[in-house]
Amino acid sequence: MNEIKKNTVLSGVQPSGNLHIGNYLGAIKNFVSMQSDYNCFFCIVDLHAITVKQDPKILKRNTLEVAASYIASGIDPKKSVVFNQSSVSAHSELAWIFNCVTRMGWLNRMTQFKDKAGKDKENASSGLFIYPNLMAADILVYKATHVPVGNDQKQHLELTRDIAQKFNRDFNCENFFPIPEPIIDKDISRIMSLKDGGQKMSKSDLSEYSRISLLDESDEIIKKIKKAKTADTVMPEKIEQILKLSEVNNLLNIYAGFSGIEKEKLIAQYKGQNFSNFKSDLSDILVEQMKPITAEIKKLMQDKGYLIEILLEGQNKANEVAQKTINDVYDIVGFLRNET
Ligand code: TYM
Repeated sequence: MNEIKKNTVLSGVQPSGNLHIGNYLGAIKNFVSMQSDYNCFFCIVDLHAITVKQDPKILKRNTLEVAASYIASGIDPKKSVVFNQSSVSAHSELAWIFNCVTRMGWLNRMTQFKDKAGKDKENASSGLFIYPNLMAADILVYKATHVPVGNDQKQHLELTRDIAQKFNRDFNCENFFPIPEPIIDKDISRIMSLKDGGQKMSKSDLSEYSRISLLDESDEIIKKIKKAKTADTVMPEKIEQILKLSEVNNLLNIYAGFSGIEKEKLIAQYKGQNFSNFKSDLSDILVEQMKPITAEIKKLMQDKGYLIEILLEGQNKANEVAQKTINDVYDIVGFLRNET
Protein backbone atom coordinates (compact mmCIF):
# COMPACT_ATOMS: atom_id res chain seq x y z
CA MET A 1 0.00 0.00 0.00
CA ASN A 2 1.33 3.40 -0.93
CA GLU A 3 0.31 5.84 1.77
CA ILE A 4 0.46 9.54 1.00
CA LYS A 5 2.63 11.52 3.38
CA LYS A 6 2.18 15.23 2.90
CA ASN A 7 5.02 16.72 4.87
CA THR A 8 8.71 16.29 4.41
CA VAL A 9 11.43 16.10 7.04
CA LEU A 10 15.12 16.70 6.47
CA SER A 11 17.85 16.69 9.05
CA GLY A 12 21.54 15.99 9.19
CA VAL A 13 24.45 15.13 11.45
CA GLN A 14 28.10 15.97 10.83
CA PRO A 15 30.50 13.04 10.53
CA SER A 16 32.93 14.62 12.94
CA GLY A 17 33.24 11.60 15.25
CA ASN A 18 32.26 11.11 18.89
CA LEU A 19 28.47 11.12 18.43
CA HIS A 20 27.00 11.45 21.90
CA ILE A 21 23.73 11.21 23.79
CA GLY A 22 23.12 14.93 23.12
CA ASN A 23 22.98 14.18 19.39
CA TYR A 24 20.81 11.19 20.14
CA LEU A 25 18.27 12.89 22.41
CA GLY A 26 18.30 16.28 20.67
CA ALA A 27 18.05 14.96 17.14
CA ILE A 28 18.29 11.28 16.19
CA LYS A 29 15.59 10.02 18.59
CA ASN A 30 13.18 12.49 16.98
CA PHE A 31 14.19 11.36 13.50
CA VAL A 32 13.15 7.85 14.42
CA SER A 33 9.77 8.89 15.75
CA MET A 34 8.94 11.03 12.69
CA GLN A 35 9.66 8.49 9.99
CA SER A 36 6.20 6.91 9.90
CA ASP A 37 4.33 10.17 9.44
CA TYR A 38 6.62 12.14 7.13
CA ASN A 39 8.69 11.71 3.99
CA CYS A 40 12.07 11.64 5.68
CA PHE A 41 15.53 12.51 4.39
CA PHE A 42 18.41 12.02 6.82
CA CYS A 43 21.81 13.01 5.59
CA ILE A 44 25.34 12.78 6.83
CA VAL A 45 26.70 16.23 6.18
CA ASP A 46 30.24 15.60 5.01
CA LEU A 47 30.39 18.91 3.11
CA HIS A 48 29.71 20.71 6.37
CA ALA A 49 32.37 18.67 8.17
CA ILE A 50 35.20 19.99 5.97
CA THR A 51 34.55 23.59 7.03
CA VAL A 52 37.16 22.65 9.64
CA LYS A 53 40.17 20.43 8.99
CA GLN A 54 39.46 16.69 8.65
CA ASP A 55 41.67 13.69 8.10
CA PRO A 56 40.27 12.18 4.84
CA LYS A 57 40.54 8.56 6.04
CA ILE A 58 38.86 9.32 9.33
CA LEU A 59 36.17 11.35 7.57
CA LYS A 60 35.21 8.31 5.48
CA ARG A 61 35.05 6.12 8.57
CA ASN A 62 33.05 8.70 10.52
CA THR A 63 30.58 8.97 7.64
CA LEU A 64 29.90 5.25 7.86
CA GLU A 65 29.70 5.52 11.64
CA VAL A 66 26.92 8.12 11.44
CA ALA A 67 25.09 5.88 8.95
CA ALA A 68 25.49 2.97 11.39
CA SER A 69 24.30 5.16 14.29
CA TYR A 70 21.20 6.21 12.37
CA ILE A 71 20.28 2.62 11.59
CA ALA A 72 21.18 1.24 15.02
CA SER A 73 19.00 3.95 16.61
CA GLY A 74 15.99 2.81 14.60
CA ILE A 75 16.05 4.68 11.30
CA ASP A 76 14.71 2.26 8.74
CA PRO A 77 16.35 2.78 5.33
CA LYS A 78 13.25 1.30 3.70
CA LYS A 79 11.12 4.09 5.19
CA SER A 80 13.61 6.97 5.21
CA VAL A 81 16.20 8.16 2.73
CA VAL A 82 19.68 7.90 4.26
CA PHE A 83 22.61 9.33 2.28
CA ASN A 84 25.74 11.44 2.49
CA GLN A 85 25.41 15.04 1.44
CA SER A 86 28.33 15.20 -1.01
CA SER A 87 26.83 12.39 -3.08
CA VAL A 88 23.93 14.63 -4.13
CA SER A 89 25.44 17.56 -5.99
CA ALA A 90 22.23 19.60 -5.91
CA HIS A 91 23.05 20.55 -2.29
CA SER A 92 26.18 22.43 -3.37
CA GLU A 93 24.47 23.89 -6.42
CA LEU A 94 21.57 25.31 -4.42
CA ALA A 95 23.99 26.53 -1.75
CA TRP A 96 25.72 28.68 -4.37
CA ILE A 97 22.42 30.27 -5.35
CA PHE A 98 21.75 30.94 -1.66
CA ASN A 99 25.21 32.51 -1.29
CA CYS A 100 23.84 35.12 -3.67
CA VAL A 101 20.53 35.49 -1.81
CA THR A 102 21.74 35.66 1.80
CA ARG A 103 22.95 39.06 3.01
CA MET A 104 26.35 39.41 4.69
CA GLY A 105 24.61 41.08 7.61
CA TRP A 106 22.51 37.97 8.21
CA LEU A 107 25.57 35.74 8.32
CA ASN A 108 27.43 38.19 10.55
CA ARG A 109 24.81 37.59 13.22
CA MET A 110 25.32 33.80 13.37
CA THR A 111 26.56 32.91 16.84
CA GLN A 112 27.82 29.46 15.79
CA PHE A 113 30.34 31.05 13.41
CA LYS A 114 31.52 33.31 16.21
CA ASP A 115 31.86 30.32 18.57
CA LYS A 116 33.60 28.08 16.08
CA ALA A 117 35.91 30.69 14.54
CA GLY A 118 36.83 31.90 18.03
CA LYS A 119 39.34 34.71 18.29
CA ASP A 120 41.13 33.81 15.07
CA LYS A 121 38.39 34.80 12.61
CA GLU A 122 40.90 35.76 9.90
CA ASN A 123 42.08 32.18 9.82
CA ALA A 124 38.64 30.52 9.69
CA SER A 125 37.64 28.96 6.36
CA SER A 126 35.18 30.94 4.25
CA GLY A 127 33.13 27.71 4.20
CA LEU A 128 32.59 28.08 7.93
CA PHE A 129 31.13 31.54 7.35
CA ILE A 130 28.69 30.48 4.62
CA TYR A 131 27.92 27.17 6.36
CA PRO A 132 24.28 28.20 7.10
CA ASN A 133 23.59 28.72 3.38
CA LEU A 134 24.53 25.11 2.70
CA MET A 135 22.31 24.04 5.57
CA ALA A 136 19.41 26.00 4.06
CA ALA A 137 20.12 24.26 0.74
CA ASP A 138 20.05 20.83 2.45
CA ILE A 139 16.59 21.58 3.76
CA LEU A 140 15.04 23.44 0.86
CA VAL A 141 16.32 21.24 -1.95
CA TYR A 142 13.79 18.67 -0.64
CA LYS A 143 11.23 21.41 0.13
CA ALA A 144 11.26 20.11 3.71
CA THR A 145 8.50 21.42 5.93
CA HIS A 146 9.85 20.14 9.27
CA VAL A 147 13.38 20.00 10.63
CA PRO A 148 14.11 18.14 13.89
CA VAL A 149 17.24 19.63 15.48
CA GLY A 150 18.84 20.51 18.79
CA ASN A 151 18.56 24.00 20.17
CA ASP A 152 22.00 25.05 18.86
CA GLN A 153 20.65 24.93 15.29
CA LYS A 154 17.68 27.22 15.98
CA GLN A 155 19.34 30.34 14.59
CA HIS A 156 20.35 28.50 11.41
CA LEU A 157 16.74 27.42 10.97
CA GLU A 158 15.56 31.00 11.34
CA LEU A 159 18.04 31.99 8.65
CA THR A 160 16.75 29.18 6.42
CA ARG A 161 13.25 30.61 6.77
CA ASP A 162 14.54 34.08 5.83
CA ILE A 163 16.36 32.68 2.80
CA ALA A 164 13.24 30.80 1.61
CA GLN A 165 11.13 33.93 1.98
CA LYS A 166 13.64 36.18 0.23
CA PHE A 167 14.08 33.76 -2.67
CA ASN A 168 10.32 33.44 -3.14
CA ARG A 169 9.95 37.23 -3.04
CA ASP A 170 13.00 38.18 -5.15
CA PHE A 171 12.09 35.78 -7.93
CA ASN A 172 8.38 36.35 -7.72
CA CYS A 173 7.60 32.70 -7.07
CA GLU A 174 5.35 32.75 -4.04
CA ASN A 175 5.27 29.42 -2.15
CA PHE A 176 8.04 27.86 -4.30
CA PHE A 177 10.02 27.09 -1.17
CA PRO A 178 8.03 26.19 1.95
CA ILE A 179 8.93 28.01 5.17
CA PRO A 180 10.25 25.10 7.27
CA GLU A 181 9.35 24.60 10.92
CA PRO A 182 12.04 23.61 13.41
CA ILE A 183 11.10 20.70 15.70
CA ILE A 184 12.93 21.37 18.94
CA ASP A 185 12.06 19.58 22.19
CA LYS A 186 12.02 21.79 25.28
CA ASP A 187 14.21 19.94 27.76
CA ILE A 188 16.33 17.60 25.70
CA SER A 189 17.30 19.92 22.88
CA ARG A 190 20.32 21.20 24.78
CA ILE A 191 22.08 18.46 26.71
CA MET A 192 24.95 19.94 28.65
CA SER A 193 28.45 18.70 29.48
CA LEU A 194 28.60 16.25 32.42
CA LYS A 195 31.45 18.33 33.83
CA ASP A 196 30.03 21.81 33.38
CA GLY A 197 26.32 22.58 33.17
CA GLY A 198 27.13 25.87 31.44
CA GLN A 199 28.69 24.16 28.41
CA LYS A 200 26.86 22.19 25.74
CA MET A 201 27.75 18.48 25.48
CA SER A 202 29.97 18.52 22.43
CA LYS A 203 31.85 16.19 20.09
CA SER A 204 34.87 18.45 20.28
CA ASP A 205 35.21 18.72 24.08
CA LEU A 206 38.70 17.50 24.97
CA SER A 207 37.43 15.62 28.01
CA GLU A 208 35.81 12.21 27.44
CA TYR A 209 34.13 12.69 30.82
CA SER A 210 32.08 15.61 29.45
CA ARG A 211 29.96 13.31 27.27
CA ILE A 212 28.55 9.83 26.89
CA SER A 213 29.43 8.58 23.46
CA LEU A 214 27.14 6.29 21.49
CA LEU A 215 30.08 3.88 21.44
CA ASP A 216 30.66 3.81 25.21
CA GLU A 217 30.45 0.41 26.86
CA SER A 218 28.30 -0.03 29.97
CA ASP A 219 31.20 0.26 32.44
CA GLU A 220 32.26 3.57 30.85
CA ILE A 221 28.71 4.92 31.13
CA ILE A 222 28.56 3.94 34.80
CA LYS A 223 31.95 5.54 35.48
CA LYS A 224 31.04 8.77 33.69
CA ILE A 225 27.71 9.14 35.51
CA LYS A 226 29.43 8.44 38.83
CA LYS A 227 31.91 11.23 38.10
CA ALA A 228 29.30 13.65 36.69
CA LYS A 229 29.07 16.92 38.57
CA THR A 230 25.96 17.47 40.74
CA ALA A 231 25.66 19.87 43.71
CA ASP A 232 26.63 20.10 47.37
CA THR A 233 23.00 19.75 48.43
CA VAL A 234 20.35 17.08 48.30
CA MET A 235 17.89 16.89 45.38
CA PRO A 236 15.71 19.99 45.81
CA GLU A 237 11.96 19.61 45.65
CA LYS A 238 11.08 22.63 43.55
CA ILE A 239 11.80 22.99 39.85
CA GLU A 240 12.82 26.67 40.36
CA GLN A 241 15.58 25.51 42.73
CA ILE A 242 16.67 22.80 40.32
CA LEU A 243 16.93 25.23 37.41
CA LYS A 244 19.60 27.06 39.41
CA LEU A 245 21.66 23.85 39.67
CA SER A 246 22.46 23.44 35.99
CA GLU A 247 24.32 20.11 36.31
CA VAL A 248 21.48 18.52 38.30
CA ASN A 249 18.91 19.90 35.89
CA ASN A 250 20.89 18.42 33.00
CA LEU A 251 21.04 14.94 34.55
CA LEU A 252 17.30 15.11 35.18
CA ASN A 253 16.73 16.05 31.53
CA ILE A 254 18.84 13.09 30.42
CA TYR A 255 16.96 10.78 32.79
CA ALA A 256 13.58 12.05 31.58
CA GLY A 257 14.69 11.89 27.94
CA PHE A 258 15.74 8.25 28.16
CA SER A 259 13.08 6.95 30.53
CA GLY A 260 10.07 8.87 29.24
CA ILE A 261 9.23 9.67 32.89
CA GLU A 262 8.23 13.30 33.45
CA LYS A 263 10.80 15.46 35.17
CA GLU A 264 8.35 16.46 37.91
CA LYS A 265 7.80 12.79 38.77
CA LEU A 266 11.55 12.20 38.98
CA ILE A 267 11.97 15.19 41.26
CA ALA A 268 9.21 13.90 43.53
CA GLN A 269 10.90 10.47 43.61
CA TYR A 270 14.41 11.72 44.55
CA LYS A 271 13.73 14.93 46.51
CA GLY A 272 15.60 15.26 49.79
CA GLN A 273 18.03 12.43 48.90
CA ASN A 274 21.69 12.71 48.11
CA PHE A 275 22.52 11.93 44.49
CA SER A 276 23.88 8.39 44.74
CA ASN A 277 20.58 6.52 44.23
CA PHE A 278 19.58 8.92 41.52
CA LYS A 279 22.88 8.42 39.69
CA SER A 280 22.75 4.67 40.02
CA ASP A 281 19.18 4.54 38.59
CA LEU A 282 20.18 6.94 35.80
CA SER A 283 23.12 4.68 34.88
CA ASP A 284 20.78 1.68 34.78
CA ILE A 285 18.41 3.44 32.37
CA LEU A 286 21.26 4.63 30.16
CA VAL A 287 22.89 1.21 30.03
CA GLU A 288 19.59 -0.50 29.30
CA GLN A 289 18.76 1.86 26.43
CA MET A 290 22.22 2.39 24.98
CA LYS A 291 23.59 -1.15 25.12
CA PRO A 292 21.63 -2.52 22.14
CA ILE A 293 22.32 0.62 20.09
CA THR A 294 26.06 0.56 20.82
CA ALA A 295 26.25 -3.15 20.02
CA GLU A 296 24.39 -2.65 16.75
CA ILE A 297 26.63 0.28 15.67
CA LYS A 298 29.69 -1.88 16.29
CA LYS A 299 28.15 -4.79 14.40
CA LEU A 300 27.17 -2.63 11.43
CA MET A 301 30.68 -1.16 11.30
CA GLN A 302 31.91 -4.69 10.58
CA ASP A 303 29.81 -4.74 7.40
CA LYS A 304 30.86 -1.62 5.52
CA GLY A 305 29.56 -3.05 2.22
CA TYR A 306 26.04 -3.10 3.64
CA LEU A 307 26.31 0.50 4.86
CA ILE A 308 27.64 1.66 1.49
CA GLU A 309 24.74 -0.09 -0.24
CA ILE A 310 22.26 1.80 1.93
CA LEU A 311 23.98 5.12 1.20
CA LEU A 312 23.97 4.40 -2.52
CA GLU A 313 20.29 3.58 -2.50
CA GLY A 314 19.63 6.76 -0.49
CA GLN A 315 21.72 8.82 -2.90
CA ASN A 316 19.62 7.64 -5.85
CA LYS A 317 16.33 8.42 -4.11
CA ALA A 318 17.56 11.81 -2.84
CA ASN A 319 18.94 12.75 -6.25
CA GLU A 320 15.60 12.22 -7.90
CA VAL A 321 13.90 14.79 -5.68
CA ALA A 322 16.80 17.23 -5.41
CA GLN A 323 17.50 17.31 -9.14
CA LYS A 324 13.93 18.32 -9.87
CA THR A 325 14.21 21.26 -7.46
CA ILE A 326 17.52 22.40 -8.88
CA ASN A 327 16.16 22.26 -12.43
CA ASP A 328 13.24 24.45 -11.39
CA VAL A 329 15.54 26.83 -9.50
CA TYR A 330 17.87 27.22 -12.49
CA ASP A 331 14.89 28.06 -14.63
CA ILE A 332 13.54 30.53 -12.05
CA VAL A 333 16.86 32.39 -11.69
CA GLY A 334 17.30 32.57 -15.48
CA PHE A 335 20.02 30.06 -16.31
CA LEU A 336 19.92 28.97 -19.92
CA ARG A 337 19.71 25.17 -20.16
CA ASN A 338 21.16 23.56 -23.24
CA GLU A 339 18.34 21.18 -23.76
CA THR A 340 17.58 19.78 -27.19
P1 TYM B 1 25.73 18.50 14.53
O1 TYM B 1 26.40 17.44 13.75
O2 TYM B 1 26.59 19.40 15.36
O3 TYM B 1 24.69 17.85 15.52
C1 TYM B 1 23.70 16.94 15.06
C2 TYM B 1 22.40 17.18 15.77
O4 TYM B 1 22.57 17.03 17.18
C3 TYM B 1 22.09 18.19 17.86
N1 TYM B 1 22.93 18.41 19.05
C4 TYM B 1 22.46 18.44 20.30
N2 TYM B 1 21.21 18.31 20.79
C5 TYM B 1 21.08 18.38 22.13
N3 TYM B 1 22.12 18.58 22.99
C6 TYM B 1 23.38 18.73 22.53
N4 TYM B 1 24.40 18.91 23.37
C7 TYM B 1 23.59 18.66 21.13
N5 TYM B 1 24.70 18.73 20.34
C8 TYM B 1 24.27 18.59 19.07
C9 TYM B 1 22.25 19.32 16.85
O5 TYM B 1 21.41 20.41 17.15
C10 TYM B 1 21.87 18.62 15.57
O6 TYM B 1 20.46 18.60 15.42
N6 TYM B 1 24.56 22.04 11.23
C11 TYM B 1 24.15 20.80 11.78
C12 TYM B 1 24.01 19.69 10.76
C13 TYM B 1 23.16 20.04 9.57
C14 TYM B 1 21.75 20.08 9.54
C15 TYM B 1 21.41 20.41 8.19
C16 TYM B 1 20.76 19.89 10.51
C17 TYM B 1 23.61 20.32 8.32
N7 TYM B 1 22.56 20.55 7.47
C18 TYM B 1 20.10 20.55 7.81
C19 TYM B 1 19.43 20.02 10.10
C20 TYM B 1 19.11 20.36 8.76
C21 TYM B 1 25.19 20.33 12.79
O7 TYM B 1 26.32 20.75 12.76
O8 TYM B 1 24.76 19.36 13.62
